Amino acid sequence: MTRIIRKAILPAGGLGTRFLPATKASPKEMLPIVDKPMIQYAIEEAQACGIEEFIIITGKHKRAIEDHFDSAFKLEESLKKSGKKILLEEISRLNQLNFAYIRQREALGLGHALSCAGPFVKEEPFAVLLSDDIIEPGDHLLRDMIDLYKELTSPILALEKVPLSEVHKYGVVNGEKLRDNVYRINGLVEKPSPSHAPSDMAIIGRYILTADIFPVLEDVEPGKGGEIQLTDALSGLLKKRPIYGYLFTGKRYDAGDKIGYLKATVDFALKNPQVSVQFKEYLLDIAARLKHT
Ligand code: G1P
Repeated sequence: MTRIIRKAILPAGGLGTRFLPATKASPKEMLPIVDKPMIQYAIEEAQACGIEEFIIITGKHKRAIEDHFDSAFKLEESLKKSGKKILLEEISRLNQLNFAYIRQREALGLGHALSCAGPFVKEEPFAVLLSDDIIEPGDHLLRDMIDLYKELTSPILALEKVPLSEVHKYGVVNGEKLRDNVYRINGLVEKPSPSHAPSDMAIIGRYILTADIFPVLEDVEPGKGGEIQLTDALSGLLKKRPIYGYLFTGKRYDAGDKIGYLKATVDFALKNPQVSVQFKEYLLDIAARLKHT
C-alpha cells in the first residue's frame, strides 16, 4: 500500500524558556523522559505510522538534536564488541530514517518555523508533530488522523477538550460535530481568554497539513505574542478549503510544562521494565510519608 503521509515536520527552534536554566545552552527537545529525549517519542510515533522522512526545524543551541539522530558508528561497534545487544538495538532503531535540518534564524513563532520547511515539502500532505506534546504510544493518535486524512483529503487537526481555565495556552476551535470524534472546523483562535474561547476544544500538537498552507503562511501577519501563528494561517486556509478536527480522548502529556514533564517522567518510569519495580516501591514509600504530613 502506498503511504500517503511520508514526511513529518518537527519544529524545534523555540527558546524553551519554561525550562531555564536547563535550556540555556541545550535544546528543550533533548530533555530526557526516563532514558529517551522528548523529541524521540514523537519521531517513534511517526515512524510507527510508516513515516521515514523527518524535517526538523532547529535554531541556536540545537546541535545536540542533529548529533542524537546521527549514526554513531564507534558507539555501535563498541556495544557490539561488549555484547550489549539490547542497547545496540535501542540506539540503532532509528538508523533507517532520513533526517533533514533547517535552521530557523529567529524564533518568530510556530507558523514561521513551519514556513521555513515550505521549499522542501512540494505538493504532498505531511504531518506536523510538536514534540512537547507526548502521546501515550498505545493510543495511535497520528495513525487515526492519517486514516481520517485518507477519507477526507483535507487538513486534520488533533483536538482535546480542556478546562476553560486552560484555553489561553492553546489554539481553540469552533467545530461542528460530524460524527464521533470528527468535527468540521468553522473557526480558530490562538490562545483566547476563557470568555472569548469559541469552545473548550484545544488544538494539540499533531497536525496533518496540505502544501497549500505555505502560501497562506507567507501572508500571515504577526498575531498573538507578536509571533507568526499557525492557527492564524489555518484561519486563512479555512476560507479556501475545509479543515477537520479529530477529537483525541487518549492520554497526552504537556511535557513543555514542568508539571506535565514530571507526570510523563513518572508514568513512563512506571512502565520501564528496568526501573518500574524499584520506582513503584519508592513512590509508595513517598505516598505513605506524605499521608502523615
Ligand atoms: C502551539 C500552537 C497552539 C497549539 C499548541 C499545542 O502553541 O500555537 O495553537 O494549541 O502549540 O501544543 P505553543 O505551545 O507553541 O505555545
